[in-house]
Amino acid sequence: MSPAVSTLSPAIAAILDDPAYPGLKALIIETTGMAFYRDKDGDLARILAERMAEIGVIGCAGYLGLLQSLVQGKAEMDALIAELTIGETYFFRHKEQFDALRDLILPDVIARNASFRRLRIWSAGCATGPEPYSVAIMLEREFAERIAGWHVTVLGTDINQKFLTRAREGRYDEWAFRVMPDAQRAACFDKVGNQWQIRPEFKRNVSFQYHNLIKSPFPSLADNIAGFDIIICRNVIIYFSQSTVESLVPCFRESLNDGGWLIMGHAEPNQRLFRDFRTVNTPGAVLYQRADGPPPAAEPSPSAIPRPVPPVLAASAGAGRVAPPKASPVRRSRATPSRLVPPSQPQAQGLAGFDRLKVARDLADSGQWEKAAAACNAIIGASPLDAWAHFYRAMVHEQMGEDEACEKSLRRAIYLDRRLVLPHYHLGLFLARKDDTAGAERSFRNAQALLTGIAEELPVNPGEKITVGQMREAVAMHLKLLGGA
Ligand SMILES: C[S@@+](CC[C@H](N)C(=O)[O-])C[C@H]1O[C@@H](n2cnc3c(N)ncnc32)[C@H](O)[C@@H]1O
Repeated sequence: MSPAVSTLSPAIAAILDDPAYPGLKALIIETTGMAFYRDKDGDLARILAERMAEIGVIGCAGYLGLLQSLVQGKAEMDALIAELTIGETYFFRHKEQFDALRDLILPDVIARNASFRRLRIWSAGCATGPEPYSVAIMLEREFAERIAGWHVTVLGTDINQKFLTRAREGRYDEWAFRVMPDAQRAACFDKVGNQWQIRPEFKRNVSFQYHNLIKSPFPSLADNIAGFDIIICRNVIIYFSQSTVESLVPCFRESLNDGGWLIMGHAEPNQRLFRDFRTVNTPGAVLYQRADGPPPAAEPSPSAIPRPVPPVLAASAGAGRVAPPKASPVRRSRATPSRLVPPSQPQAQGLAGFDRLKVARDLADSGQWEKAAAACNAIIGASPLDAWAHFYRAMVHEQMGEDEACEKSLRRAIYLDRRLVLPHYHLGLFLARKDDTAGAERSFRNAQALLTGIAEELPVNPGEKITVGQMREAVAMHLKLLGGA
């Protein structure tokens, strides 16, 4: 035992001496990306010792077995993640970046999107919510006139379920307002006891969902992670390894519309990583803009090499606002549909139909909603009974703020093929948003039943990036939120 270890409490020292500890540590880092713990054995062992004592597990091998078990593994990993993650955050953190958002980025995006009146913003690793709420406050207080009647989405995602619950509540202690002027706080929050509750007008466009940047591939339309105008991911990747960060940057890029902006934490200035972006410097902030154009001269990245435009695009060419679809980043290309056995597959769908659906889905994944709508309409025109085409049409309706049409298309997809998981799942999300709790619960239960008995690692449908395991986790979380778990 090293001298440092001998000064630690016996429980922590026992964990550090346990031969199963390295495997346990590797699983935790692999699941969360938090390579930060690679050289923080004392901290990690303390958290593990506390967690293991709480649930009465002795020894790292037993705890590793629990984390890997099919029945309780996910729930225990969530409980552990709640202790491992660091949720330091506050409103309008790093003022210079919010200045750039107000003075440069939002005016640019609003001008760019004026013809279709939509705005999609993602706060990745949002912790308890001050970051997405700060954006919503800025939009409401400084841009309300310019975006009146627009379909605005501010999505906050995180790996920590406890943080997400608190984010949804929107109630904060004084400390969260450490750089926010009192007058601004009074205008946006109501005092409730010792805390401050965000007012409904700053909450209505903000939603929160679970998303693990390491394990949930993106962009993914089915996961609602695609087609953003602005992505904010600050003070998150600092905990990840260099190779993890390198694999994430192209995914962020692919999840942005052309011309969209990426804001990273000011402590993450490794600009080499962002060479596929246009770098813009403003006072105190470095910003990255996706600008599709000729690849940089020396080293073109895989994601910058254009694919041929598929024939189905011809009808709508020029109608949209963005460049042709690009090749997928390395992480995405792993799940080749033909290698995997789908849980269920539409009967009538031949290879040509599959390819055409893939085109529609890729267009939607890259935020080209008008082209994706045209591609879906073309498939539906030729094969009106294609359940998947109706499903992807529903997803595009949703992104375009066409609620009624979205619900209709989802129900049509289910009517045409009840075995497809994603339409049930998304109908659940839709109904939950409309406060139809019973309907939402029914839809999630249908999705849950369809996922029973299928191997975790399979894609939830052919070519989709979400796996059965991830979908199960998402469904369980939503049922829990509805109070029906
Ligand atoms: C320090 S907070 C940053 C909060 C906010 N972005 C800010 O800058 O104020 C880091 C957040 O990243 C989240 N996080 C860590 N690993 C993650 C992962 N693999 N996927 C998604 N979120 C993750 C943590 O749960 C935590 O809430």
